Amino acid sequence: MNVGVLASGSGTNLQALIEAGGRGQLDPARLVIVGVNVPGCGALERAARAALPTFVLDHKRFADRAAFDRALVEELRRHGVELVVLAGGMRLVTPVFLDAFPQRVINIHPALLPSFPGTHAQRQAIEHGVRVSGCTVHFVDAATDSGPIIAQAAVPVLESDDEDTLRLRILGEEHRLLPAVVRAIAHGRVTVEGRRVRLQGAADAGLADGRLRSL
Ligand code: GRF
Repeated sequence: MNVGVLASGSGTNLQALIEAGGRGQLDPARLVIVGVNVPGCGALERAARAALPTFVLDHKRFADRAAFDRALVEELRRHGVELVVLAGGMRLVTPVFLDAFPQRVINIHPALLPSFPGTHAQRQAIEHGVRVSGCTVHFVDAATDSGPIIAQAAVPVLESDDEDTLRLRILGEEHRLLPAVVRAIAHGRVTVEGRRVRLQGAADAGLADGRLRSL
């Protein structure tokens, strides 16, 4: 299954996918293209270092969100992409984009959804005083961080945490969860029934019932 990754940040989740792919842990998925909307971002450098094809689409150069999404779809189709992974960025996607890849766009969010959607999820968790947070990989739908949940991983929130220490603890889990989900999807083990996502025989893809097997 050909995977396209869209990112706009430092790209550590992209790096985790690249390294999992290098170890054969994404099979039968393979990364075919990395697209970014922030020229010069870390994700672009990481992709180049891994000799992955890239494209840059600067959203500021498009008249509106739909025009930007049309260009994105064109680029991804040109590379034969079958699964789109939003790995840190480009969270808002229009129906133009979603209709082009039905149930084939996934996102990773640094909180246990439906708690703390949107930006600064880690800050929201600390300010709310929760004792447990984590990350969620979900299918993308038209609303923000609201699509069917595929898998989650939890981490403790410590008294001593600030936004950054919690962010790093969650990132550690993101880097394990995202490749495991990509692999499970590529194996055809993920099906959606309404809001419920079923993971069939996913234990050997690193997931058991939507949690990392080690949890
Ligand atoms: C991650 O925390 C991810 O959950 C969120 O954006 C951040 C991206 O980090 N959607 P990176 O660019 O993968 O390092």
